This record gives sequence, structure tokens and C-alpha cells, in this order.
Amino acid sequence: MSKNGVDQGKRRFLLAASSIAGGVAVVATATPFVLSMLPSAKALAAGAPVEVDISKIEPGSYVTVAWRGKPVWVTYRTQAMLDQLPKNDPNLRDPDSNESEQPSSCKNVYRSIKPQYLVHVNICTHLGCAPLLRKQVGDPTLGASWPGGFFCPCHGSRYDMSVRVFKDVPAPLNMVIPPYAYKTDTRVIIGQDKASS
Ligand code: FES
Repeated sequence: MSKNGVDQGKRRFLLAASSIAGGVAVVATATPFVLSMLPSAKALAAGAPVEVDISKIEPGSYVTVAWRGKPVWVTYRTQAMLDQLPKNDPNLRDPDSNESEQPSSCKNVYRSIKPQYLVHVNICTHLGCAPLLRKQVGDPTLGASWPGGFFCPCHGSRYDMSVRVFKDVPAPLNMVIPPYAYKTDTRVIIGQDKASS
């Protein structure tokens, strides 16, 4: 991919990070008392769990949060996206995620606790760029056989909607699924695995 593609990937990540930082600053101004009960920035950087409201995510869309300084996405997959996943298996490098990182609760074709919601660290396993969501089946920029998934603009790695890497691309592994748990049906805690808490 072009140098421009690299810059754009980094730019998106920096924009996401600065947006998150900006959001924290707004909360700090408006509700200093509440903030005092939340994990400090130092604790967050060290790995304190992060809570996410997933109730407003539209099907096919996602939200991002920072956890341990990494961009974590929560994506609401449609039924059509879920139905496509098993069909991708023959074209994947590690379809069963035997070599890839995820909690045991997510070692399945969906790589998630609840099929609809994918929670993943959006860092390419090649050299760490930020892949883009390319959910459209047959996206003209990716070819008629494209089943929908994630595309890394830096060197062209491709992942499906379970962030499992396709064969014959530079990335060696599926993207990472972090530990997480459902606090309620609409609130997810990133960084806390119920099984170990
Ligand atoms: S960093 Fe993603 S393909 Fe190289």
C-alpha cells in the first residue's frame, strides 16, 4: 500500500485516541465528583478494566474505546455477517484460532461471547497498523469474492468479520480478542474475564 495509506491508518488511530482523550476531558469538567470514583488515567494505562455502553450501536456499526492504550472495537454484527463466517473457514490461515489470542469463552467461530457483538483489539498482527472495517460483501475495491471483514491499508492484510486472517497476506495471526465480560445486557467490561474474576 502507498505511504499515503500508512499515514492515513496512523492518522485514524491518532484521531480515535485523541477523540477518546477529549471525551475523558469533557467528563472531567462536567462531573468531577463522579470522575474521582473512576479509575485514574494511570490505572487505565496500567490495565484497569474499561466499561462500554453497547446499547446505541446500530447493526453493522461499532464503537471504539482505549484499553491499555490500545484501540478496542465493539462491533454489532448482523445475522448475514454471522451466517457468512463458517463459509470463510477454507480460506483462513487459522480458522479455529488455535494459534491466536482470545479468552477461552471466545474460542468459537464468532470469537465472541454473544455472536452479535465482536470485541477485538484493532491492531494488525503484521506490523501494527489499524485495519479498516470493509463490511460490504463484494466491495469493489476488494473484489467480487470479498465476504466482508477488515482490511489493513498498510500492506493489504485481510480479516473476516471475526477478525480471522485470510491466507496469503502478510499478517500471521488473527487479531486479538481481549478478555471481557458482560456486566449487563448492554454494558461490557473490557479487561475483565468473568471466568478469572
Ligand atoms: S501492518 Fe497490516 S498488513 Fe502490514
